Amino acid sequence: MAIIGLCCDHAGYELKEFVKTVLDARGLSYKDYGCYSTESCDYPDFAHQLGAAIETAEVSSGIAICGTGNGIGMTLNKHQGVRAALCWSEEIARLAREHNDANVLVMPGRFVANVAATSMVNAFLDTAFEGGRHQRRVNKIPLQK
Ligand code: RB5
Repeated sequence: MAIIGLCCDHAGYELKEFVKTVLDARGLSYKDYGCYSTESCDYPDFAHQLGAAIETAEVSSGIAICGTGNGIGMTLNKHQGVRAALCWSEEIARLAREHNDANVLVMPGRFVANVAATSMVNAFLDTAFEGGRHQRRVNKIPLQK
């Protein structure tokens, strides 16, 4: 069964714990790469773990949360094959899948309520990539050697 990787920093910890309840309710498997409390920490320490896990296919996709979503998303996108999308609404999460084939949903924990996060997680998990012209564009994202 596909495993979803999770990561956060202290500012995303509480929302990440809530996201686990959403995944549990759907019967989905996940692996938590930390952090594990609200004690101040550095988001790259956890984002790099999730990014590496996607590169090696240890997990199939991910959900990442820091205060704004920016730092953790910037770090994740340094990893080959990671398409981490910063989302703040259900529609953006849906479009991140349809148009960008996003494989990590990034949310700003300090700016997103649980209801909105639930909608985004469900949209991220339930929406397929459209392919077609979007596939051509996604193919152009990696740096060419
Ligand atoms: C932590 O204070 C905050 O800087 C971090 O969670 C994130 O927003 C960085 O991009």
